[in-house]
Amino acid sequence: METLHEQNVSMPRIGDKAPEFEAITTQGEINFPVDYAGEWVILFSHPADFTPVCTSEFITFAHLEEKFKTANCNLVGLSIDGLYSHIAWLRTIKEKIKFNGMKNMEVKFPLIEDISMEIAKKYGMIQPGESKTQAVRAVFFIDPVGTIRAIIYYPLSLGRNFSEIYRALIAMQTSDKFSVATPADWNPGDDVIISPAGSCGVAEERMESHGELECEDWFFCTKKLAKEDILKGILKN
Ligand code: BEZ
Repeated sequence: METLHEQNVSMPRIGDKAPEFEAITTQGEINFPVDYAGEWVILFSHPADFTPVCTSEFITFAHLEEKFKTANCNLVGLSIDGLYSHIAWLRTIKEKIKFNGMKNMEVKFPLIEDISMEIAKKYGMIQPGESKTQAVRAVFFIDPVGTIRAIIYYPLSLGRNFSEIYRALIAMQTSDKFSVATPADWNPGDDVIISPAGSCGVAEERMESHGELECEDWFFCTKKLAKEDILKGILKN
């Protein structure tokens, strides 16, 4: 049986450098991730043009593009379709399709053509148990130095949760900027988690301190971080 390597398939992981490629897109050629150095980028795949779940996702992403831009984050889409299919589909979306009250949505971010599946295979977007010919709904969060920071995969039938995609982006930016972690279901304005005590002395201090920290136990301490401070720290004006 052919190995993944022989099939030219890889599964990038969190912490890896984003695999490089050049591609033709609906916004011209791109050199990835070099063209996005210094900014975040979300590289996502969808199974096919002219399909309903994908259409609902593109309308939603187009609607949110400015919000992601304000968070210093670019969007780049990909499917195993050709450029002319992409162009025709995006024109149809703008001219004809309404979803959740959104209409006339223009997709301004690049959509990669990947008929050869070369890029989809590099990013582990083809998962043969789900489909051998269509990419699953993958979402790669890539940071300003080109490192993959988070990956979410969804099956073909499941449209993505865009609030979660945005929340994850802001949470990672908050962790970077303020050296904190974020607990379950965190949103800006909620308490953040500080790194666990690294010594018995610090553990003791934390349990005794009545300062800005609130400790459930020595290993579980939170503090306040105002939403305005987060937004001022990470969002562009
Ligand atoms: C869709 O986008 O609607 C879709 C695409 C592939 C398989 C199932 C649904």
